[in-house]
Amino acid sequence: MTEVSPRDGLQNEPRVISTPEKVRLASALAGCGVEEVEVSSFVSPRWIPQLGDATEVFDGLARGGVDIAPGAPWLSALVPNERGLASALAVNERWGRRVIRKVSVFTAASETFCRKNINATIAESIERFVPVVAGARSAGLVVRGYVSCVIACPFEGAIDPAAVARVAGMLRGIGVDELDLGDTIGAGDAASTERVLAAVDLEWPITGVGEVDFAGGRGMVTLHLHDTFGRAVECVRAGLAAGVRSFDASAAGLGGCPYAGREGKRAPGNIDTGALVREIRRAGYAVGVDGPRLEDAASLARSLVAGAGGGEAVAR
Ligand code: HMG
Ligand code: MG
Repeated sequence: MTEVSPRDGLQNEPRVISTPEKVRLASALAGCGVEEVEVSSFVSPRWIPQLGDATEVFDGLARGGVDIAPGAPWLSALVPNERGLASALAVNERWGRRVIRKVSVFTAASETFCRKNINATIAESIERFVPVVAGARSAGLVVRGYVSCVIACPFEGAIDPAAVARVAGMLRGIGVDELDLGDTIGAGDAASTERVLAAVDLEWPITGVGEVDFAGGRGMVTLHLHDTFGRAVECVRAGLAAGVRSFDASAAGLGGCPYAGREGKRAPGNIDTGALVREIRRAGYAVGVDGPRLEDAASLARSLVAGAGGGEAVAR
């Protein structure tokens, strides 16, 4: 379980939440029993002003010992390029420990989305990631590779599962440790999720129970679902049936990529962590999330986006 609300949730909020409130949210989530908290992104503050304080948020977490508390989850961040990786590594160097254990590069199965999101073609994005992956791995970090628009693109419509598999193969080829498949606009249902997982399996085998090395992430495939049409839960079921054992979710269902919104319509939120936990348990699997703590963290997340976090509104 990876909690992505501090990153995917807050990046799409019209207001910038203050740094101490972000630290509070990430700390609360870290105490919920999830395996990973995706804390922030080392991206251009021109592109995502909401997360311009990634360094300060990690510093706040490290100062509070959140990364070294007993049972602490891994803390991770998005990095789009070498500059982002350097900022992440600088945090670890300053603290003399791996506060950030994993960094995530991100591309897409849609050329239009890739261009709008990271100003690169898919091929250019992979080139850009080569030194990022090498640098992260030589610093002992695990590297996740996101593929967005695995079912549909807000600009191009339906995406061919073979295109997703191709990008998965490209990420594997440059040494990315784990794959994260993003249904960016929540277009999936059980059948389309099954189709894309079957296609990806040919390029990046989807490991089953007992084969996933959660500690190292090697080979792991994660599903990253947005819940636009209330179908994310059926996609979770399809994922579990196909062997997926790792999921992203967001407290209170916050989330969405600012570059996936259209015509004044905001991008949809991630699957709610509570709903994901319930579905995984319904399917007969164990998940180590503490319900009451998660509910408290979700209430905090809701209060932050309702305006209690302060900060400036973002002009776009
Ligand atoms: P660019 O404009 O092509 O790059 O952006 P650039 O090299 O020309 O840099 C532009 C400016 O950003 C420059 O500053 C750079 O110095 C600075 P200026 O000279 O204009 O003042 N810059 C940076 N600053 C801080 N950290 C950095 C960095 N890099 C450049 N790392 C770039 C290319 C990739 C930087 C830009 O497009 C970007 O930051 N994009 C990020 C978009 C993003 O974060 N999107 C949301 C996350 S993806 C998502 O939500 C989907 C996901 O959830 C899965 C799913 O649901 O599908 C993961
Ligand atoms: Mg997302």
